Amino acid sequence: MNLVMIGTGYVGLTTGVGFASLGVAVACVDVDEAKIARLDRGEVPFFEPGLGEAMKSAQESGNILFTTDLKNVIGGADVVAIAVGTPPKITGEADLTALFAVADQVGAYLDHEAVIVVKSTVPVGTNRRVLERVRVAMTNAGQGELTSLIRVVSVPEFLREGTALQDFLHPDRVVIGADDEVASRIVDRLHEGIVAPRVCTTIESAEMIKYAANAFLATKISFINEIANLAERVGADVRDVAHGIGLDKRIGKHFLQAGIGYGGSCFPKDVSALEQISGANGYTFKLLSAVIEVNNRQRERFFKKIIQELGSLKGRRIAVWGLAFKDQTDDIRESAGIDIAQRLHASGADLAVYDPQAMDNARRVLSDHVEFAPTAIDAASGADALVVLTQWPEFREVSFQTLREAMVDPWIFDGRNCLADLDLAKYGFKYQGVGLGKYEC
Ligand SMILES: NC(=O)c1ccc[n+]([C@@H]2O[C@H](COP(=O)([O-])OP(=O)(O)OC[C@H]3O[C@@H](n4cnc5c(N)ncnc54)[C@H](O)[C@@H]3O)[C@@H](O)[C@H]2O)c1
Repeated sequence: MNLVMIGTGYVGLTTGVGFASLGVAVACVDVDEAKIARLDRGEVPFFEPGLGEAMKSAQESGNILFTTDLKNVIGGADVVAIAVGTPPKITGEADLTALFAVADQVGAYLDHEAVIVVKSTVPVGTNRRVLERVRVAMTNAGQGELTSLIRVVSVPEFLREGTALQDFLHPDRVVIGADDEVASRIVDRLHEGIVAPRVCTTIESAEMIKYAANAFLATKISFINEIANLAERVGADVRDVAHGIGLDKRIGKHFLQAGIGYGGSCFPKDVSALEQISGANGYTFKLLSAVIEVNNRQRERFFKKIIQELGSLKGRRIAVWGLAFKDQTDDIRESAGIDIAQRLHASGADLAVYDPQAMDNARRVLSDHVEFAPTAIDAASGADALVVLTQWPEFREVSFQTLREAMVDPWIFDGRNCLADLDLAKYGFKYQGVGLGKYEC
């Protein structure tokens, strides 16, 4: 089977490499020339564990190529998959500009029967709009008589950055939203190397499954954060509460880590988009606005906790560990860590930051006055407090004796509770996490 994969971001590149590793002939297309040049040289342009090695093997086997020239590769495509970004507009609505631009280009060049697979996360109704645009562009290009041979299938992606390739190759399910069995079967065949339940459904249901899944996971996070806030009032430990409820199979243990809330390129935008979709359809999805509000408040609360303990931050040296929205990625989109670092800086703190992978991305958004330290210990050197904002495992591996000696004042504020079990008091640290017992805030 021949696949043209449009968009080589976290999803598109992983999908392209994943299918190539399963023996599909893949042409990856992107408008970003610099990115395509790097990919062509065998470099993955972002941090994603394991992707570089798999890409190299796929390149060596001749199953994958990278190009900016869609017209040149679309001729042989059985399936054209699209994974361009759908970022939020100011209103919360998904911005479909890139997706529709791709639909227009695909239609301008398609001259044979093909299935178009939309992997981007898109509001209900978008796949049909993509099909319509492709057909209009084909008609304008003189291929009007072929438009009935073009089908669109919604195949939303559920991979997580940090474990993207593994998630792609071993998903919990493959959702296939199609109008007819022919299209559904072609997409099923494309995925034949992937052993996972198929959810074959309508296009609209497939589009909805993706938003519902992310909104549900975000709800779990906001729920446990509310429990954490209450735990501080009543003197409970949210980690034990999460463990206690998570063992109940009806609840499940995942996404019950209290902290400074969710971020990243998906949850914030998808929850907002679902809220916006609800409103546009005359429905008030009450739960979603609370999920968003709790998430925003969680950052605010944590920031206030720092101020409550330290007083004015003006001229105080604060170390920040972690800027990526979670560990194992360099992605800082909607990162709670970036948000809190910016608040600390705006309050007059002298900031020294460190993240194992996200430094380059963070340099683009943080002030020039922020110090980018080469190691975690360097960031903490001379600090009045250390603020941990991403749960990188390596933060647990530092010598806490060395850390204590490097810092002026032994304060640690842990926005992810990732050092909570390390008995930091024995080194003389004062420690605050989220929801770890009585706290007046
Ligand atoms: N990142 C995730 O973890 C994740 C997980 C599941 C679903 N999704 C969804 O998948 C989609 C893609 O997300 P991402 O994080 O991979 O995005 P991304 O921003 O990392 O990558 C998008 C890519 O599309 C390219 N592009 C834009 N316009 C183009 C065009 N006209 N032709 C060719 N290429 C073009 C960009 O240059 C970029 O390389 C989004 O809808 C997102 O919501 C993302």
